[in-house]
Amino acid sequence: MLRSAIIAASRSPRARSLVENLPLARPIVDRFVAGEQLGKALDTTRELTRDRLVTLDHLGEDTTDRASADATVEAYRKVLGALADGGLAARAEVSLKLSALGRSLPGDGDKIALENARAICEAAASAGTTVTVDMEDHTTVDATLSIVRELRVDFPWVGAVLQAYLHRTEGDCADLSGPGSRVRLCKGAYDEPASVAYRDKAEVDASYVRCLKILMAGQGYPMVATHDPRLIEIAQDLAARSGRAAAEYEHQMLFGIRADEQQRLAARGLRMRVYVPYGGEWYPYFVRRLGERPANLAFFARALVGR
Ligand code: FDA
Repeated sequence: MLRSAIIAASRSPRARSLVENLPLARPIVDRFVAGEQLGKALDTTRELTRDRLVTLDHLGEDTTDRASADATVEAYRKVLGALADGGLAARAEVSLKLSALGRSLPGDGDKIALENARAICEAAASAGTTVTVDMEDHTTVDATLSIVRELRVDFPWVGAVLQAYLHRTEGDCADLSGPGSRVRLCKGAYDEPASVAYRDKAEVDASYVRCLKILMAGQGYPMVATHDPRLIEIAQDLAARSGRAAAEYEHQMLFGIRADEQQRLAARGLRMRVYVPYGGEWYPYFVRRLGERPANLAFFARALVGR
């Protein structure tokens, strides 16, 4: 129930304007979001890439007009150019959301999103780095995977995200475990109905392990996106059992979450990538992160009343 309320808040314009206008919210937003401007995100990237890898996300989703979708493409061209110019492209890639690229525009939204994603992939290729396509709610999975498939014809390094909470995901893992495939496996961050998703934490975790087994035994490059210590250990065990060297898979975590563990894994010689979101459209992302942990909500509430 809490999760449903949080996801509803992430979509509510009233809640959004309330939180965005609270100066006291800023320090907590800064924990999860690496600034509104590109310069700040690049400073964070420079710092993190000393021992870790990065994927930068220009925040934005659910774009409802063409101009915003075009502006998002421009923002990605800019960040990719800056990564190349700053010598960071070997250690930092980008993640994008198709809904920020116009997928929900009426008429030919899917086509517009594909063209925009293609333009970003071209910029990534010129910069010498890669792109991973985030996964959004379950109604968009087929369309997202179909766009990823089309992109991979010209850019075989494009990564996909699969969400272990969906009943269908074991099948998708099998489909995407071939040579060259890059798959980020996460638990899933949206409020999905029981008809399509596991709602119980133990069931989601069990599905995550089944999916990991398929990806680790496959021929692709698994990207293990979780902060869950038990699943991180299982991933390393499965990688060892599948004969994978440290360079043949990676761990991923979000900026601001378990930073000490990120450093510990990197110090052990494992590939550790941090998802670094930045930009003015931080509200929905921020609310999803708050909702993932009751302690975050309590911390936020205390900060707002100044205690
Ligand atoms: P779980 O929620 O069980 O948390 C395990 C432990 O991690 C907690 O006990 C706590 O210690 C810590 N933790 C987790 N979340 C925290 C938080 N918000 N604040 C503080 N501590 C926290 N989802 C999606 O639907 N589509 C996508 O494209 C992506 N992309 C993505 C990229 C990367 C790199 C990551 C790490 C995650 C995503 N996600 C995502 C989000 C993902 O689906 C999921 O919601 C979060 O990662 C939280 O799940 P955990 O696996 O960490 O487990």
